Amino acid sequence: MTYGDTHGETEFVHTDGTKESVELGSRRFFELADQRFYGWNQHLHSKEGYFTGIFDYQMFRGRRVLEIGCGMGCMAMNWAQQGADITAVDLNPVAIEQTKRRFEVFGLEGNIFEADAENLPLPDDQFDFVYSWGVLHHTPGISAAIKQLRRVLSPGGRVGLMLYNRRSFLYRYTISFAEGWLNLENEFLNELQLASRYGDGAREEGNPHTWPVTESEIRNDLLADFGNVKTRVFGTDVPPILDSFLPRLSQRLSAKKIDQLMQANGWSIWMTGEKPSA
Ligand SMILES: C[S@@+](CC[C@H](N)C(=O)[O-])C[C@H]1O[C@@H](n2cnc3c(N)ncnc32)[C@H](O)[C@@H]1O
Repeated sequence: MTYGDTHGETEFVHTDGTKESVELGSRRFFELADQRFYGWNQHLHSKEGYFTGIFDYQMFRGRRVLEIGCGMGCMAMNWAQQGADITAVDLNPVAIEQTKRRFEVFGLEGNIFEADAENLPLPDDQFDFVYSWGVLHHTPGISAAIKQLRRVLSPGGRVGLMLYNRRSFLYRYTISFAEGWLNLENEFLNELQLASRYGDGAREEGNPHTWPVTESEIRNDLLADFGNVKTRVFGTDVPPILDSFLPRLSQRLSAKKIDQLMQANGWSIWMTGEKPSA
């Protein structure tokens, strides 16, 4: 994800190859960035709104919702538009500047500030819903961060997190096998460094820290202090991985089998849980 560090022109390439220059922080900039973000997450939208496959906006209307790692503020904006009392934090000052700018441009109210998930400057027992999308696998102290989320949740409040899945085709085939083994990258990089470099599909950039999780880590460690824990794997990345590693097999698989593979081996896990009331 690129935020740019100065205000200025930035270039978007449309799907038909045409280019459009927009100013960082303009309404058009957010609209184009959102078009792309919504496109990546098409399976989560419905005619009732964006991300309704994971978010229950009705339930939290007028209630306190916290986003950890808001990036450019697309999801936080949707919560504000749906009537939640939204707080959004991010470690990156440019992300905060852009999210504040977005709220101004769209005429929305929100409490937006720079903070580290591992050390939240917020009082205990405040929020009805705390969520985070594609963030906490990038923080070295993930357990400390989840303890902080639990601390600021009201008793009975809910959590929703999307984290990368280590039991995925992307981790096993693309990262470990293709990059690590075939390209001999494991001569130079350990598992964490490989996942950090290739986990977001950007060979030339990478992240300082990306460490995907497993279902058993979620249940036995990360969300062990939450009740009613549920997980769902999103596998939209599975068909293209099958096509590139096993093209013949991929053509022969039934739609049902592909669906099963997607639900077991996708790159993203959405997990939810509740902070116990007593
Ligand atoms: C891949 S981006 C996702 C942003 C947004 N959730 C989205 O989906 O567009 C990860 C974001 O998490 C933020 N981040 C990483 N570690 C963090 C931490 N410990 N506390 C707060 N934000 C963090 C980064 O600054 C970045 O904006």
